[in-house]
Amino acid sequence: MASRNSPPSPAPLDPLRVPSHVAIIMDGNGRWASSRGLPRFAGHRAGVGAIRRAIASCRDLGIRILTLYAFSTENWRRSTDEVGMLMGLLHERLVAEAEELQRSGIRVRIFGDLGAIAPETRAQIERVESMTVEGHALLLNIAFNYGGRDEIARAARTLAARVRDGQFEVEQISEPALAECLYTAGLPDPDLLIRTGGEQRLSNFLLWQAAYAELLFLDVYWPDFDRHHLVAAVDEYQRRQRRFGGATSA
Ligand code: IPE
Ligand code: IPE
Ligand code: MG
Repeated sequence: MASRNSPPSPAPLDPLRVPSHVAIIMDGNGRWASSRGLPRFAGHRAGVGAIRRAIASCRDLGIRILTLYAFSTENWRRSTDEVGMLMGLLHERLVAEAEELQRSGIRVRIFGDLGAIAPETRAQIERVESMTVEGHALLLNIAFNYGGRDEIARAARTLAARVRDGQFEVEQISEPALAECLYTAGLPDPDLLIRTGGEQRLSNFLLWQAAYAELLFLDVYWPDFDRHHLVAAVDEYQRRQRRFGGATSA
């Protein structure tokens, strides 16, 4: 249910058809900042407010899982300053938000190629993950130094190693077996994938898991994303007919 603060949506959402898993490509921070004559990092900072709003809104709407794309394996192509700022921002927010996340019942998981980030930040990730492990209001996944191709290649290596070690037969390599080697093992695939910032592409996000996600591309820069956008996105999702390859129903 939407909270009393949400602007009225065109029609009330159907509480029985709320997506279980929403994934968001949080794009447009840099353009948000440039359009205000600010440096790019100001956009990343402003994006933190939108993350807080998205978490609270998902929880209020009864969405069980929110997966946010925060840093891609390709984002290393940016300036050293910007990359350093994004790494620092992750560290800072993990330290600053841990207690509040725990209090609000948010379970946090951070996944991606975390071997490439600072050991102090990895320690904070472990701290927040263990502090929030009992959270049942919402599972918040943060994809950081994440790439869908990298994730699938890792899963292939894991399966190949099992075959090499005699624990697994080649014939046992199946879609479920591969899915169990992804960061999202055990979770349902995203039902709704939203990208802000106006671009209409996946940029290497959840390539395997998004096979049948409903895609929604919004013309709003991420720092401006609020509860109203999420309610409207769920409303649009509820108007779609998902077929998963089946025939159109009458
Ligand atoms: C998304 O905003 C945040 C990250 C990719 C880390 P951008 O920084 O890509 O913002 P634009 O797309 O340049 O506006
Ligand atoms: C995708 O945005 C990555 C994140 C939001 C973390 P990008 O800004 O990196 O994507 P491209 O470069 O426009 O495809
Ligand atoms: Mg971008």
